[in-house]
Amino acid sequence: MTDNRDAVGVIGVGWVGLVTATCFADLGHQVVAMDINEAKIESLRSGRSTIHEPGIDELLARNAERLTFTTSMDEVLGRARLLFCCVDTPPTYSGDADLSRVRAVVQALPDDSEHALVMKSTVPAGTGRAIKRDRKGLAYVSCPEFLKEGTAIHDFMNPDRVVIGADPGSEWAADAVEALYRPLGGELVRTDVASAEMIKLASNAFLATKISFINEIANVCEETGADVMEVARGMGLDKRIGPAFLRAGIGYGGSCFPKDVSALKMLAGNTGYHFQLLNAVIEVNELQKRRVVAKLEKHLGSLADRRIALLGLAFKPNTDDMREASSLVLAARLEGEGAKVAAYDPIAQDAARDLLPTVEMSGSAEEAAAGAAAVVLVTEWPEFLQLDWAALRERMSTPLVVDGRNFLDPQTIKAAGFTYEGIGRPGANGTG
Ligand code: UGA
Repeated sequence: MTDNRDAVGVIGVGWVGLVTATCFADLGHQVVAMDINEAKIESLRSGRSTIHEPGIDELLARNAERLTFTTSMDEVLGRARLLFCCVDTPPTYSGDADLSRVRAVVQALPDDSEHALVMKSTVPAGTGRAIKRDRKGLAYVSCPEFLKEGTAIHDFMNPDRVVIGADPGSEWAADAVEALYRPLGGELVRTDVASAEMIKLASNAFLATKISFINEIANVCEETGADVMEVARGMGLDKRIGPAFLRAGIGYGGSCFPKDVSALKMLAGNTGYHFQLLNAVIEVNELQKRRVVAKLEKHLGSLADRRIALLGLAFKPNTDDMREASSLVLAARLEGEGAKVAAYDPIAQDAARDLLPTVEMSGSAEEAAAGAAAVVLVTEWPEFLQLDWAALRERMSTPLVVDGRNFLDPQTIKAAGFTYEGIGRPGANGTG
């Protein structure tokens, strides 16, 4: 390619976009990243990250000279041929993926053969084909992202596989994307656009299915006296099953699983196919968040006017992301039963405040637990392992811990004088 536009273009600097931009810069590439949000670009220009992600500040600082942040699409088009589209695709009211931001990006691109749109945003299968109908000249590559929040940089730099989907006419762009990713060493899956799009949706739906499956097993364990942690360990050693994503808890959340499972279900439904399994996956996840209420009531009776302390609010640790966090449903259900909810999260409290205006945000776990009838561990932040549980119990009106992530050591908690309830662990029926 004899072209001076050898920078990597990134459009949309949310989680995926910022990680993509900073990681490509760290691999030695010039990167020009644009976003329509001026405040975000200002912050990034001054080296301040707009997301909470371990390692991102260091990447920004280390690669400042290779990173350009801009609000100008012309600047990106002038410097880059490959344009990584990283805008978000939130769910619509109907459960379909909202592609308005993707469409806005496409509208802003010239219909030329100089540029290639590389789709990182998660889009329904068929999106690439629809975009190509509008922009016949533009090359198009589907390159779905598989990184996880909280370990995003590690995941980007150490991919299990890199999926690159392109149709005839766009091979030059697929080759260029492959060249960018080859140094990372993951298995390269070259395929067509529709299959690449489906690999992403099917992967997330399968992982969500694994979680709902183990959550149902946990619920059955509670009835039979088995321990889901032991069951998951024994199952996971079978290489065909694998140990990952078999942690029972109070359900999956975040910006991806709930949205992508629903989008795949709707995508199937729109073609006339009823994806029955995904209905169950979604329903199990919804009920799982609510089961905590029954666990509390079993020990406390009515929750009216009882103070319940939530430890953790984010959808998982090492992030301040509150999107579809299980804590949102749980807090609302507890308040629905008349409980007074207090909460502490080391990082997500600011993000949570507007979403949970009636929840008392506490400055520490101890403050949240003061006068509480129960503590519910919602997010497995490592610092909760270090808590002085005996001291915490002294502050509470009833010594009850519901461990929504099976994170705490039941013996330690019981030794501190608590009644311990996990998810699918012995003791759940008052036997331990
Ligand atoms: C998920 C996928 O894991 C990524 O591969 C994908 O790239 C990303 O979605 C996306 O599509 O952008 P993420 O949402 O960041 O990543 O978080 P996960 O670590 O997968 O956790 C999702 C939720 O599942 C969390 O609420 C977590 O607590 C829950 N979970 C996870 C369980 O309840 N049990 C498990 O065993 C694993």
